[in-house]
Amino acid sequence: MNPNTRGRGLGGWAAGFSLIAGVGILVGLGPTSEGLGSAEPLQASTEPSPDGAMPQDPFDYYRTNIEPLFLRSRGYPGSTDGNAACVMCHVWQTSVRFSLEEPTETPDGGAWTEEQSRRNYEVVTQLVNASDPESSRFLRKPLAVGAGGLRHTGGAHWDSTQDPEYQVILDWIRALPAAEFTPADALVAVDFQYYRSCVHPGVLSVGKYGQLPCTSCHAAGLAGFAPRSASGGVLTVAEARQGFESLQRLIVPGDPEGSRFLLKPLHPDGGGSYAHNGVRRWQNRNDTEWQTLAAWIRGELTGSECSPVY
Ligand code: HEC
Ligand code: HEC
Repeated sequence: MNPNTRGRGLGGWAAGFSLIAGVGILVGLGPTSEGLGSAEPLQASTEPSPDGAMPQDPFDYYRTNIEPLFLRSRGYPGSTDGNAACVMCHVWQTSVRFSLEEPTETPDGGAWTEEQSRRNYEVVTQLVNASDPESSRFLRKPLAVGAGGLRHTGGAHWDSTQDPEYQVILDWIRALPAAEFTPADALVAVDFQYYRSCVHPGVLSVGKYGQLPCTSCHAAGLAGFAPRSASGGVLTVAEARQGFESLQRLIVPGDPEGSRFLLKPLHPDGGGSYAHNGVRRWQNRNDTEWQTLAAWIRGELTGSECSPVY
C-alpha cells in the first residue's frame, strides 16, 4: 500500500478498501474466526473471575481479545445491511483520533506486529475512561444510539450493551487502573442543563444580524444539534437530549478552539472555517456570544442561569 494514500480522506479510504476487503474475506474464512479472535474473552465476560481481576497484563489482554475485533469482517461488502470492518476506515482516515496501523495480510487474516500493536494500544487507550468505563468513547461510538451510543459515521455495530464484543471491551476497561487511564477531556463536563436552558433558546433558535437561526438548517440529521420542539415551545428533556447528543461530535470538551461547532459559523478572517453553507454569526473570537459558548465548552458554565449574557 502506498503510504502516500494515507490521510487523503475518501480517496485514501477507497484506495485502502480493496486491500482490506481481501483481509476481511480471509478473516471470514477461517473455521475458528467466527466471532472473536479467541474463545477466552467470551468466557471471561460471561463468567467473570470472582474478584473481577484481569487475569493478564492489560496490553496482552488487549492484543489477544480486542485488537482482532478491528479486522473482523462484518458482512460488508457482500451484504447490503452489513457493516465494514473497523480497519476499512480506521487505518486510512488519519484525521480521526482512532487511527490504527496498517495490518499485514496473513494466511489466517490480517495481523499487526507487536510494535504496531503497542502503537494501536496507545491510540485505543486515549479513547477509554477507566474512571467511568461505560462513558468511554471506544464503547459508545460503535454502540447503537438507542442503546446509549453516540452517532458514528462508521455505523452502529452493537445493538445493545449485551453484545459480546461490548462486554469483552467493558471487562478490559474496568480492569484498567483509573489513575492512568482517565482522559483529560473526561474531566471536563459540558453541561446539558446549560444547553437546554441557555444555548438552545438563547443562541441556536435566535437569528442574529437578520440571519437565519441554526434551527432553520440544523433541526435534524447528522448535524441536528438545534432541534425544534414538537410543541412549538421549550424543548422537552428528550428533545434537548437528542440535540445535545448530536452536538457531541462537533465539540471537543475543554477545547473550544478545536470545536467545529464554534468554528463553522465564525468568520474566516476571525479564525473560522473556510466554508460553511450556513451563516457567519461571529466576526471573531472576541464576540461575547462566542466567548460565552467557549466558556461552556470549557466546562465553566453550568445550570440554567443564563444572565448576564443572554
Ligand atoms: C465506514 C467507516 C467506518 C467504520 C467501518 C468504522 N468507523 Fe469508527 N469512525 C469513522 C469516522 C469517519 C469517525 C469520525 C466521525 C465520527 O465520530 O462519526 C469514526 C469515529 C470513531 C470513534 C471515535 C474516535 C474519537 O476520536 O473520538 C471510535 C471510538 C470508533 N470510530 C470506533 C470504531 C470501531 C470500534 C469500529 C468497528 C467496530 C468502527 N469505528 C468502524 C468511520 C468508521
Ligand atoms: C442556511 C442554512 C444554515 C444555517 C442557518 C446554519 N447552517 Fe451550519 N451548515 C449548513 C450546511 C448546509 C452545512 C453542511 C455543509 C458545510 O459544512 O458547510 C452546515 C454545517 C455546519 C457544521 C459542520 C457539521 C458537520 O457535520 O461537520 C457546523 C458545526 C455548523 N454548520 C454550525 C452551525 C451553527 C452553530 C449555526 C447557527 C449559528 C449554523 N450552522 C447555521 C447550513 C446552515
